[in-house]
Amino acid sequence: RLPVARTLKALDRALAHLRAEGESVALVPTMGALHAGHLTLVRQARRKAERVVVSVFVNPTQFAPTEDFSSYPRRLAADVAALAEAGVDLVWAPDTAVMYPDGFATRVSPEGPALAGLEDAFRPHFFGGVATVVAKLFGQVRPDIAVFGQKDYQQLKVVTRLAADLDLRVRIVGVPTVREPDGLALSSRNAYLSAEERARAPALHRVLADCAARISAGRPLKAVMESGRKALARDGFAVDYLEARHAETLAPVRSVKDGPIRLLVAAKLGTTRLIDNLAV
Ligand code: PAJ
Repeated sequence: RLPVARTLKALDRALAHLRAEGESVALVPTMGALHAGHLTLVRQARRKAERVVVSVFVNPTQFAPTEDFSSYPRRLAADVAALAEAGVDLVWAPDTAVMYPDGFATRVSPEGPALAGLEDAFRPHFFGGVATVVAKLFGQVRPDIAVFGQKDYQQLKVVTRLAADLDLRVRIVGVPTVREPDGLALSSRNAYLSAEERARAPALHRVLADCAARISAGRPLKAVMESGRKALARDGFAVDYLEARHAETLAPVRSVKDGPIRLLVAAKLGTTRLIDNLAV
């Protein structure tokens, strides 16, 4: 049976067992409501380390008061069953009071990629919350490797910077986005879409792919991105941003000569906010 640790003491005991002969450990941090994207991260983790730990914790500090923390899907039993099937060695599922006990008073404040003017412009608390909980997860599990999805591209860059800057001694591995056959990136929040919204949602990826193709064909970047924004609006999206950025630094780029480019988008369909990104 797949062990599920819910206290630091249980976690320490389970980890000592997993590492009895010095086995390497990969951590896959998640907020649960697992889908095939998460399970792809687990598969990569299994290829890169001898033991795989998956954390399931809906982290309150990365949600603004107006966001969906209380309605975020929670289904630990189904998640544990899927993780057992996927060959995971340990699930770390602390309560909020275990993660943030009374007196908790420290917050990691990421800069650089966390201040790129993308997600941070619309969710100012988000990366501070992510960096804080990820630093804690790394301290709790002390993994050799940690696996994150490119789906949350800015997050991947923030976490990579965090690990380097705080000397956390963990190698960060990024895994390409897993998509539905129609191109929609898998996300726990896709469950919020109505049938009609779900039918329109693949336009997000389609517009990214169109923009990438036109930029590769030499069209001027600014005009391509502007027409991409208009296309999304025509499809009923309220666009937070659609931007071309340097793929590593996330700095703004003016043309393909400015280096490898990543297109990043966030847009709302009804009340559901979707994000996606694509390499040019
Ligand atoms: P969550 O949204 O549950 O995502 C957990 C991990 O799965 C992240 O690294 C995310 O990028 C990855 N992921 C999600 N959808 C994916 C897809 N379609 N393809 C590939 N990977 C995908 O991201 C978080 O949780 C939290 O912010 C967390 C890092 C756990 C900190 O609380």
